[in-house]
Amino acid sequence: MTQPSYNFHVFICQNERPEGHSRGCCHSKGSSHLLTYMKSKVKALGIPKTRINKAGCLDQCESGVAVVIYPEGTWYQIKSTQDVDQIVESHLQQGIPVTSLLMTER
Ligand code: FES
Repeated sequence: MTQPSYNFHVFICQNERPEGHSRGCCHSKGSSHLLTYMKSKVKALGIPKTRINKAGCLDQCESGVAVVIYPEGTWYQIKSTQDVDQIVESHLQQGIPVTSLLMTER
């Protein structure tokens, strides 16, 4: 049996909480726009075997927008389309993680 396989499988938190919630949420930090932007950028560049998926809460809310890329399990904190550009062009296109955007332990 052949299994699906990706070079990179990206999950971007899309969780939304009510305004004023103590933990905040990635949705309020623009996660929906950043997901759409990443998908279109990956498609435009023709990066093969790379899947961008919505995720529920990844339990890194205070450090969001939370992104994790498998198979290696690299965590990023992104804030802008410029951050997405860097991740797509370096990590997803060349396999080189963007150290300046890595999520740090809370
Ligand atoms: S709301 Fe995004 S990690 Fe929890």
